Amino acid sequence: MTHYERIGGEVVVRKLVDRFYELMDQQQDFHGIRELHAKSLKASREKLFMFLSGWLGGPQLYVEKFGHPRLRQRHLPFAIGEGERDQWMNCMLQAMQGLGLEESLRKELAAAFQKTADFMRNKEG
Ligand code: HEM
Repeated sequence: MTHYERIGGEVVVRKLVDRFYELMDQQQDFHGIRELHAKSLKASREKLFMFLSGWLGGPQLYVEKFGHPRLRQRHLPFAIGEGERDQWMNCMLQAMQGLGLEESLRKELAAAFQKTADFMRNKEG
């Protein structure tokens, strides 16, 4: 089974993304990365949902609409160091907590997100 199927498909991926941006918007801990985003999180929400759908092994919604994600290149306009990476990760870990995922799946996803978030770093510190 793919991560997409194990997580619970489209409904749960949406839930995860909605919670992720809700936390980013509301929690002081994530203020640093919230500031990097546009005032409205609507477009980010839709794009992350579409991206994660394919990244988790489900429909390649992002690729079908926008082509290859070139994720690292798309993040170059934003200064991302360890601090920003850790804020992003903590926000995602908190968002996952509310989904009631099976422990082994939660761990696998945490490791995969960690790898991708670390890859996005483009400055020291
Ligand atoms: C490491 C820390 C990260 C920071 C600080 C960060 C920040 C951002 C920002 C500021 C944007 C632009 C949003 C806007 O235009 O308002 C963005 C876009 C995006 N991010 Fe991240 N991001 C991080 C990691 C990640 C990771 C790990 C993923 C995927 C697992 C991801 C997926 C995306 C996607 C799909 C977009 C939309 C790209 C597009 O414009 O088509 N980001 N991110």
